[in-house]
Amino acid sequence: MIVIRDLYKAFSETLRPLQGVHLVAEEKTNTVLIGKSGSGKSVLLKSIVGLLEPDKGSILVDEVEVVDSRQDTLQKIRHNVGYVFQSGALYDSLTVGENLAFPLEKTRDLSRGEINDRVAYYLEQVGLPEKIGRMPSELSGGQRKRIGVARTIVTEPKYLLYDEPTTGLDPLTTKEIAEFIVKLRDDLDITGIAVTHDPYCLQIVADTVAYIDEGIIKFSGHTDEARQTADPFLKAFFQTV
Ligand SMILES: Nc1ncnc2c1ncn2[C@@H]1O[C@H](COP(=O)(O)OP(=O)(O)OP(=O)(O)O)[C@@H](O)[C@H]1O
Ligand SMILES: [Mg+2]
Repeated sequence: MIVIRDLYKAFSETLRPLQGVHLVAEEKTNTVLIGKSGSGKSVLLKSIVGLLEPDKGSILVDEVEVVDSRQDTLQKIRHNVGYVFQSGALYDSLTVGENLAFPLEKTRDLSRGEINDRVAYYLEQVGLPEKIGRMPSELSGGQRKRIGVARTIVTEPKYLLYDEPTTGLDPLTTKEIAEFIVKLRDDLDITGIAVTHDPYCLQIVADTVAYIDEGIIKFSGHTDEARQTADPFLKAFFQTV
């Protein structure tokens, strides 16, 4: 379980994205985090893996504190928490297959055969097995995104943080990626927190919706409840589906 309590992060006197965030990501559920652009969604995800240091508050990952923790603790946490970057963040000089093999070689004790099997399996899962020998520059934007997801899940972490996993993808690919996030929960018991601006993706993925605004989680609950709130952002968000 990931438990975030009273989390604060400011970059300056006037730029204060997190002002007392409370959020709980229950085991084997997908929490979808929504909010306006610039509301602090990515800052929150980055804080969970220690890529940004919050000013105050607590983030517990399986009861281990992330805030102000030492490098070796952070490393252990990152072992369990995969992060799907907004940009995909592939290594341009490595093939697709090498991009997937790299985190396995670095962080998991597997034989070459096991690594090859896993790489092939996850490329198949994201629907791009034939791209194994291609370079990232030879992929479309959507394909890069799918390879980015595959590269993160190949290590089979317990938690996955997805920063806009379907942005810029066509509706069919969006559906496939969203259904894949659900499948990861069901088949691998992965607990996810996904940031999205896409109501269609939320609809498929969310067990719980969390809405961040003005530095706090203004709403957290089921999608059906989120639909019924009077908040203008939530109203506009759900109007489209
Ligand atoms: N490293 C940083 N240094 C300074 N300011 C930052 C940094 N990272 C984020 N910010 C600022 O913090 C605020 C929240 O940023 P964040 O990236 O979390 O927004 P977001 O909710 O993910 O937006 P979007 O939906 O557009 O991705 C923004 O005003 C941003 O400019
Ligand atoms: Mg963001």
